[in-house]
Amino acid sequence: MTESRENFENLNQKLLTFVDNSPTSFHAVDNMKAILEQAGYNRLLEGESWKLKEGGRYYVTRNDSSLIAFQIPKRDFVGFQIMASHSDSPALKIKANAEIQIEKKYVKLNVEKYGGMLCSPWLDRPLSVAGRIVVRTAEGVATKLVNVDRDLLIIPNLAIHLNRKVNEGYEFNAQRDLLPLFGGEKAKDGLLKQIAREAQVEEGDILDTDLFLYNRMKGTVLGMNNEFIAAPRLDDLQCVFGSLMGFLKATPKDSAAVLCVLDNEEVGSGTKQGADSTFLRDVLRRIHLAMGRSEEAYIMALASSFMVSADNAHSIHPNQPDKADPTNRPFMNEGIVIKYSANQKYTTDAVSGALFKSVCDRAEVPYQVFFNRSDMLGGSTLGNISNSQVALNTVDIGLPQLAMHSCYETAGSKDTAYLVRAAQVMYSSSIQGAGDGTYRLYFHQ
Ligand code: CO
Repeated sequence: MTESRENFENLNQKLLTFVDNSPTSFHAVDNMKAILEQAGYNRLLEGESWKLKEGGRYYVTRNDSSLIAFQIPKRDFVGFQIMASHSDSPALKIKANAEIQIEKKYVKLNVEKYGGMLCSPWLDRPLSVAGRIVVRTAEGVATKLVNVDRDLLIIPNLAIHLNRKVNEGYEFNAQRDLLPLFGGEKAKDGLLKQIAREAQVEEGDILDTDLFLYNRMKGTVLGMNNEFIAAPRLDDLQCVFGSLMGFLKATPKDSAAVLCVLDNEEVGSGTKQGADSTFLRDVLRRIHLAMGRSEEAYIMALASSFMVSADNAHSIHPNQPDKADPTNRPFMNEGIVIKYSANQKYTTDAVSGALFKSVCDRAEVPYQVFFNRSDMLGGSTLGNISNSQVALNTVDIGLPQLAMHSCYETAGSKDTAYLVRAAQVMYSSSIQGAGDGTYRLYFHQ
């Protein structure tokens, strides 16, 4: 008990450190690269020929914001065991020529929304800037990550005295209400100077930027008995981190293990590195080509493959419990949530649901079920979008959380460990097609 409790606290601290160090999708991928390299994974580049070997461990990135890592078993393999999550979160993105002077007394920044966020949590709290810049080099251009690691900005609310009705509901105007205060009159022309200083480049060499605001508040463990964690970007860095930890512990034997973390889920996945791109398909095909397998063998492998689309789910809200389905009631700390939707916004069907339940049973991990209320539209996620590129048996799951798309979200302190364990078992297993709708499961852990 003491040991497992220690492990579990340790895991939450590691998750919160990972989240704190990952203010943008670029940083999340950079941190994953460091963890994978330390675990002996070899970097591949999409623009170079791949020489892969049995038992090999590799990773490849696209746009520095999506990453796919894979382990090839020591012997011939039949399919792929994939877990996919997303690296991005809703945020405010800084536009070009961002500085706006207010009566020569203040400087504020011009920003726009990235993704569907809850706006109000972004107000009245210290924020800063992180992302990537692209600089001129002797040979062309190069990318650099930046994170201004100090309290830099704030988006102030309007006092209640100036809008007495605000608590009856407020419609945020992104162009008027969400622009952060950057400084006094001397702050003018300071933003790019600050960014150049952080990145140790000449300001004049900065050709373009992808810079986002982020919440400076660190993640924490809370609740009478430390039941909860709260942090920015738990959707979906909790699944990114949990799947990565499970992947690293796995020992695949009959199927290749594939960790897939994709950018731009929050804006519809339609980018070259998103779930609707060729990235996953290209990587799976290239694994086959590099191992000297035929096109038919690739298609056969997909029939013996399984994908878990892991993106956080809504827990029952303590103040609004009636917002959830009447008979399917997911709670934090009660296990992994399997998501269903009749119109297939989630990919889960009876077959993929049953297969994932079998994995959870084997892992001795609790699971629960999510449906939207029948009179409410829910969100969508990676699974069904990715299936239009690589069609395979897929289940949509997530960890239960509150306040999704706030810049500070709450989740259960036990659930990350459940995902790690389920991912480890899933990645070590093989789910092989034995006729349409019939599958054999081989567990190796
Ligand atoms: Co998500």
